[in-house]
Amino acid sequence: MSLREFGELENMPTVTLSSGYEMPVIGLGLWRLEKNELKDTILNAIKLGYRHFDCAAHYKTEADVGEALAEAFKTGLVKREELFITTKIWNSDHGYVVEACKNSLKKLRLDYLDLYLVHYPLPTRHNAIGQTASLLGKDKVLDIDVTIPLQQTWEGMERTVSLGLVRSIGLSNYDLFLTRDCLAYSKIKPAVSQFETHPYFQRNSLVKFCLKHGVLPTAHTPLGGAAANKDMFGSISPLDDPDLNDVAKKYGKSVAQICLRWGIQRKTAVIPKSSKIQRMKENLEVLEFQLSHEDMEVINSIDRKCRTSLPSKTWGLDVYA
Ligand SMILES: NC(=O)c1ccc[n+]([C@@H]2O[C@H](COP(=O)([O-])OP(=O)(O)OC[C@H]3O[C@@H](n4cnc5c(N)ncnc54)[C@H](OP(=O)(O)O)[C@@H]3O)[C@@H](O)[C@H]2O)c1
Repeated sequence: MSLREFGELENMPTVTLSSGYEMPVIGLGLWRLEKNELKDTILNAIKLGYRHFDCAAHYKTEADVGEALAEAFKTGLVKREELFITTKIWNSDHGYVVEACKNSLKKLRLDYLDLYLVHYPLPTRHNAIGQTASLLGKDKVLDIDVTIPLQQTWEGMERTVSLGLVRSIGLSNYDLFLTRDCLAYSKIKPAVSQFETHPYFQRNSLVKFCLKHGVLPTAHTPLGGAAANKDMFGSISPLDDPDLNDVAKKYGKSVAQICLRWGIQRKTAVIPKSSKIQRMKENLEVLEFQLSHEDMEVINSIDRKCRTSLPSKTWGLDVYA
């Protein structure tokens, strides 16, 4: 296990996961990419050097991602084994992990996933496999299923590995307590834990705990969601922070690049989303410079402990309360 040693694979640094597989430290997030822009975005990203893509059944675009990947393989742009593809099981499918996984594989036109994540530690009322509904009850509150223990969900995840459908399995949006619990009951340890973290929501204890126990922390929302979360959730954005802007000026880099470089230097993988070629390129170029210890400390000091991604705003309850 070498979470601290970033190796080289096709010029993209990778981390060796506890499963023994390599994961590129930068991935392209695919949430909120429009169906009609996905194909070009993915093909351009591959041309730029992206080898890691973060999907989810809930994004409802796995079939479009699958179409883009099929074209990339067919035209010889890249080989399957050179890519690292993640997807996630949605809350409403916790009782049907293997079926949900097979459904995602079919849409993605793949015969295995590199990484399958439990999207949230929150089973909800099932509808149909892959429908990814967030059904509300009569009270207009998310219909949470209290009959499925997370250990059962995890046993389903382990089955996807033993069936050869998935190489590595992991968690998403689990806090320290739930991560610890999973480490205690799992036969196959979670290789990755994906959670929101960026300079305004640093979560050092969770990062430290994961690294100590061989679980690679992956920063979702590594730019704090930037303009997208300001628009969708009314969040504040670290990209507007004056100290980060000063650091960016000092290095001649963008604030987004400073956020991503800080994320990598603190040993988290990062999966920024962009649909713009120039920004996708900019977000990869963070591999070309280093922040000094002093500037890492400046960024460490601006934490606002502020979550910016708040999908539960439509669920009638705050799942983090
Ligand atoms: N597991 C989970 O529950 C969960 C939750 C949230 C996100 N995620 C994953 O994490 C990925 C990233 O999170 P996110 O998309 O919410 O937020 P993010 O990557 O932090 O921010 C995306 C926003 O930043 C903008 N942006 C990208 N690069 C930029 C740059 N260089 N300069 C300025 N703005 C830039 C994008 O706009 P443009 O597209 O216009 O460039 C978009 O508005 C998602 O796509 C998804 O794959 C997972």
